Amino acid sequence: MTSDAPPDAFYDILRGVAALTGNRVVGDLARLVADGMPQDLWIAFNHKQIGSKRWLVDALAEVLPRPDGPVWVLGAWYGVLGALLLDDPRLTIPAVVSVDLDPACAPVAERLNRRHVAEGRFRAVTADMMTLGFAAQEPSPGLVINTSCEHLVDVPGWLATLPTGLPLLLQSNDYVREPDHRSCVPSLEAFQAQAGLSETLFAGALPTKNYTRFMLIGRR
Ligand SMILES: C[S@@+](CC[C@H](N)C(=O)[O-])C[C@H]1O[C@@H](n2cnc3c(N)ncnc32)[C@H](O)[C@@H]1O
Repeated sequence: MTSDAPPDAFYDILRGVAALTGNRVVGDLARLVADGMPQDLWIAFNHKQIGSKRWLVDALAEVLPRPDGPVWVLGAWYGVLGALLLDDPRLTIPAVVSVDLDPACAPVAERLNRRHVAEGRFRAVTADMMTLGFAAQEPSPGLVINTSCEHLVDVPGWLATLPTGLPLLLQSNDYVREPDHRSCVPSLEAFQAQAGLSETLFAGALPTKNYTRFMLIGRR
């Protein structure tokens, strides 16, 4: 956008797209942009990030549309996935808990999801996912989602902290060139071996221009 565009140009465009499409997530994004967004929000909302999360929501709608308890999203960044999950009419999700290690994420996630925060259906927590005691959580999670497996140092070590039988949705990728990626896998089969799920409801690969994303839905 040129420097002579008005400061609220992005807000006006997004409000226009929300009006055109009736998409409430775009409306929520417009408000976030209007009252201050982090500089790297564009990465969280780029077409590859949204594409992989749409893929996730579509798969969940097929195999696990009504999780039996709140959905915990780990490594949730700015809460984009929570917004998509709570907006999708095919899913029945009582609440989303959005967890990230980076304290800058929670305030942004809660502003993006402000409608759901007001209804008591969304909260953002700053925590290390390695330290969450899911066995003691009340109410019990209906599903734990981790789309940031590639960022963990020890994926099997994290999985070992979870109760057996817990419903899980995991994503990883083969994008080894990204310096923050510590646990990339070369194939879907390698991801299945790394995850060691006791039951698998979905296993798939989504090729993109520079890398392939992998997803598993099942039980620990
Ligand atoms: C780049 S983002 C998300 C990438 C992911 N592929 C996605 O689209 O959801 C990775 C996030 O994981 C978070 N993260 C990394 N290690 C974590 C941990 N141990 N506990 C909680 N969050 C963590 C980071 O702070 C970051 O916000």
